[in-house]
Amino acid sequence: MTNQKTVTLTDDTTGKTWKFKVMEGTTGPDVIDVRTLYGQTGMFTYDPGFTSTGSCESKITYIDGDAGVLLHRGYNIAELAEKSDFMEVAYLLLNGELPSPAEKASFTSGIMRHTMVHEQLTRFYQGFRRDAHPMAVCCGVVGAMAAFYHDSLDINDPHQRMIAQYRLIAKMPTIAAMAYKYSIGQPFMYPQNNLSYAGNFLRMMFGVPAEDYVVNPVIERAMDRILMLHADHEQNASTSTVRLAGSSGANPFACIAAGIASLWGPSHGGANEAVLNMLREIGNKSNIPAFLSRVKDKADHTRLMGFGHRVYKNFDPRATVMRQTCHEVLASLGIKNDPLLDLAMEMEQIALKDEYFVSKKLYPNVDFYSGIIFRAIGMPESMFTVLFAVARTVGWISQWREMVEDPQSKIGRPRQLYSGQTERAFVPMHARG
Ligand code: ACO
Repeated sequence: MTNQKTVTLTDDTTGKTWKFKVMEGTTGPDVIDVRTLYGQTGMFTYDPGFTSTGSCESKITYIDGDAGVLLHRGYNIAELAEKSDFMEVAYLLLNGELPSPAEKASFTSGIMRHTMVHEQLTRFYQGFRRDAHPMAVCCGVVGAMAAFYHDSLDINDPHQRMIAQYRLIAKMPTIAAMAYKYSIGQPFMYPQNNLSYAGNFLRMMFGVPAEDYVVNPVIERAMDRILMLHADHEQNASTSTVRLAGSSGANPFACIAAGIASLWGPSHGGANEAVLNMLREIGNKSNIPAFLSRVKDKADHTRLMGFGHRVYKNFDPRATVMRQTCHEVLASLGIKNDPLLDLAMEMEQIALKDEYFVSKKLYPNVDFYSGIIFRAIGMPESMFTVLFAVARTVGWISQWREMVEDPQSKIGRPRQLYSGQTERAFVPMHARG
């Protein structure tokens, strides 16, 4: 007989005690099963920002924030970034195992065959202003997919779930590149399915129908790595948003649109764009000390964008790979004298030694370097977060599917600590001061 671990909660006023089961994962911290807490005690837990709350059981991604470790289905991200590619990581996240050569070929061709969007969807874009942010456009268009693909909306049908997953992964680059082309008034580029996922995206972004487009292998590899490094990240804000939206039984396109909306915020995926805005605001190296003083001043609310992470209290392992990729890309493109990039590198060095950042364990995160790589390869800034969304779609849909297929899943319905007025009598208009 195995001993079930428990913890005991004591009410210090009455001395009453309650026992709760402790659940053990395969690795990482144990969790206290508080599902019976309200029933037993009449109390809720209070955890704004969910800093101590496990919202689900998952087998997809594991993070050890103190050690700076990230595993997808047990495989270390650094090893995946070196030896694998985005299609393989996508298969791994979705299916739990690395594909055999035949499985990989069939998965890749299945994805690449779904890259075109419904022709009528291309006209949907005309309704947006040309100066709309591409994240706004992507959020709208992905949500609108539910209006175009009625045959993959039944979440209870495993085949429809699978088709929705292929459609989302395959069409996201097309939708994203179309948002960009629309903003600059160029014709949409149809996908070219014999290219790699990353190569096809680059062509749809930077190619024009009037000319042949040759994919630069260094940029293609960097793009593939960026996609891999952003593919999934456990129960972050956007993934939790996808799960919460999906917990009501909403269709996958609506759920992924919700994820895109959450990702857009500057504390999350919007940080890579914010890093460059911040560097521009700083202007030159001599202004770094003054900027850092503002960052350290609590009353100022300025943050060093691209630094810090809710979970990592060590170097973000994705940032380590991204940093290396960043240097490779800059070297291979022969970029030596970009003032903004120089400023970023100087900022990184200063902050890594600064007592404020060291003591608070604030390290550069993945967004610090991705913004710099994107700038180096000529990616427009407004597309930075969109690219993150393209990559994260794989993680979102894997997590969504895991939730839908989990018999323990329930509609997400947090409770609250109410601090408003208690019941009071209605005051008629004539009696209000
Ligand atoms: N610059 C300056 N100070 C910071 C920063 C930062 N970037 N990040 C955290 N701190 C400070 C806080 O002021 C706080 O100080 P205190 O203890 O004196 O009050 C302490 O470090 C802890 O910070 P929290 O805000 O409690 O940490 P939290 O986990 O809530 O925030 C977050 C994480 C949102 C990522 C934060 O570090 C941040 O705003 N970073 C900048 C934005 C960014 O780069 N986001 C990308 C995240 S990665 C991603 O989405 C892929």
